[in-house]
Formats: sequence, structure tokens, C-alpha cells
Amino acid sequence: MSKQMGETVDAVTGSRRLRRNRRFDWTRRMVRENTLSVDDLILPIFIVEGENQCEPIEAMPDIERLSIDLALDTVREAWALGIPAIAPFPNVSLEKRDQTGSEITNPDNIICAFTRAVKAAVPEIGIITDAALDPFTDHGHDGVLRDGIIANDESVEQIVAGALQQARAGADIIAPSDMMDGRIGAIRQALDEEGFRDVGILSYTAKYASAFYGPYREAIGTQDLLQGDKKTYYVDPANTEDAMREAELDIAEGADMLMVKPGMPYLDIVWGMKETFGMPVFAYQVSGEYAMIEAAAAQGWLDGERAMMESLLAFKRAGADGILSYFALRAARLLQN
Ligand code: PBG
Repeated sequence: MSKQMGETVDAVTGSRRLRRNRRFDWTRRMVRENTLSVDDLILPIFIVEGENQCEPIEAMPDIERLSIDLALDTVREAWALGIPAIAPFPNVSLEKRDQTGSEITNPDNIICAFTRAVKAAVPEIGIITDAALDPFTDHGHDGVLRDGIIANDESVEQIVAGALQQARAGADIIAPSDMMDGRIGAIRQALDEEGFRDVGILSYTAKYASAFYGPYREAIGTQDLLQGDKKTYYVDPANTEDAMREAELDIAEGADMLMVKPGMPYLDIVWGMKETFGMPVFAYQVSGEYAMIEAAAAQGWLDGERAMMESLLAFKRAGADGILSYFALRAARLLQN
């Protein structure tokens, strides 16, 4: 009865001791299953009209809305760090927003102007543009609002028109985040008809009706405009199968890549999509996820840097091929060292 603890463990587990592999930094490195690289990072950038504009976003410390001239410096840094692609999101002046989001069809709108400027300044970096209408509508919805309803097919027409302008401006990948039915097929067809066969589509396939978008709405100025919520077109946070059906349709309609959004609360969906469809799957670590980590770190409640890197690695473990993240620049700087 005087057996030591170690012998007791051996009696139960035989000679298996999993801690051997965890013993040193070098053993941990040897058996590590997943790694984060700069190739996994996509940088979202908030852009605003004007020149020499750099506006803070209260709920997103360290992230600013930048006018195109200043945003180009950020793009240059991203490219120098090895970040493969950027994703611009515009804050459009209020007088340009209307019921149908018509500004998205303006060939000189801020997304198109930024896209052309990036193509001229940093031609090698990938540009992924969103074709949802929310930055351009005066009600903050992703589609056209008619009698209190987001009119699906009319919205798709407008989204397609916007996507075409973005492709003409030089966008490499169209990433519609609106969740209208049929928009992937319609965008694919329109792109092909105009000869943009090589312009890809990253479908925001599983975009959930989430509370985690709050700070983003401050950033693009839809916070005070938004009437009601987006539950009639985004996926219900309770659902998995609905997201899978959406992915099936998007793939059939011609999506090249899939996106899950938000990220961390939906890692099971990332995993499920990767397992089921074997397609490139991306995750969007959204503004609220960024804000949570930043807020806790600012209080000294979390080691912000470690939490950032751990959260990004978690996406890789879940099977994501890449992550849109407001941490992209900071993480890339760390990875370089
Ligand atoms: C809407 C859109 C959203 C985000 C990007 N485009 C969600 C919304 O406002 O409903 C969220 C991004 C983030 O929170 O970081 N098309």
C-alpha cells in the first residue's frame, strides 16, 4: 500500500506518458500539428473619403479609418510583411447613401478608387472586395429595403452591378457578404459575360446574425442607421445544417472559396465545412472578437499578444485556410521576428 503516485499511473496507462513530448521547447516544436504563417492572414482596411484622414474607431483600439493616400502606406506595409491580400470596407459620406445603395454602381466610388490606387501602387497584393450594399444604403441593410422587407432579387441585381464595377476597377476576388439567395450564381454569370473569368468569388457562405459585428458598424457608420436587424437574411446562430445547405448552393453556383463569419464562436462550422466540402475555407475574426481581446488586454486581464496569436492559431486547428483579422498586421510583425 506504500505505492508511489507514479506507479499508480503506470498501472493504469501502461508505459504511455504523453508529457514526454511536451517536455522541452524543441520536443513541442517537433510534434506541433498546426502553425500560423503570414500566408494565412488577410487584412481588412477601413477607408474613408478625403485626404490625409486618419480617424480612430472607439471600439477598435489601434484600428483607424484611413483616406486612400494613407491607406496605401498600410497596404505597402502589409505587402512588405508578406500578407497576401487586403479587404477594403468603406465609410461613405451620408449624402451618398440611399434606399437602394446606388453608390455601389458608381465606377468612381471609394472602393473602386481604392482598388485602382492599390493596383497602381502595390500591384502584386490581392484585393478582395465586398459587394454587400450596407455601406451604401441609408438604412444600413445589405440589400434594397422595400416595405420593410429586403427585396432579394432586386438586391442581387444591385450587388451584381457593384461587383462588376469592382472587377472593372481591378478587384481580384469578389466577396459578397450579403447572404441574398442566388447572388453567387448571378455574380459568376455577370463576371463571365464580361470576360472576367479569372476574377474569383469568395462567398461569405455562413454569415451569422451575430452581435459581434457591433464595432464594425461604428467603423463604417451604419450603427445609427440600421433599422431592425438582419435575421431575415443572415444565418441563425443556432443552426449548422442551414449553413451547410448554403455552402452546397454556393459551391454549385460557382464559389471558389467559402467564408465563415464570425470566427471564434463558429469554429465548429469552419471544421464542418472543411470536412464536408474540401474547399478553401476562410474565417472572419470580426470586429467584436477583436474588441473583446483588446478590451481585456487594456484592463490587464489578458496577455493581449498571446491571446491574439492563440486565437489565430485556433482557426488553423479548426481547418481554416486563412483568416481575415484586424490583427493581421500585428501578427505578421510578430511572425517576422
Ligand atoms: C455587412 C458586413 C458586416 C461586417 C462586414 N460587412 C456585418 C454587419 O454589419 O452586419 C462585419 C465585419 C466585422 O464585424 O468585423 N455586409
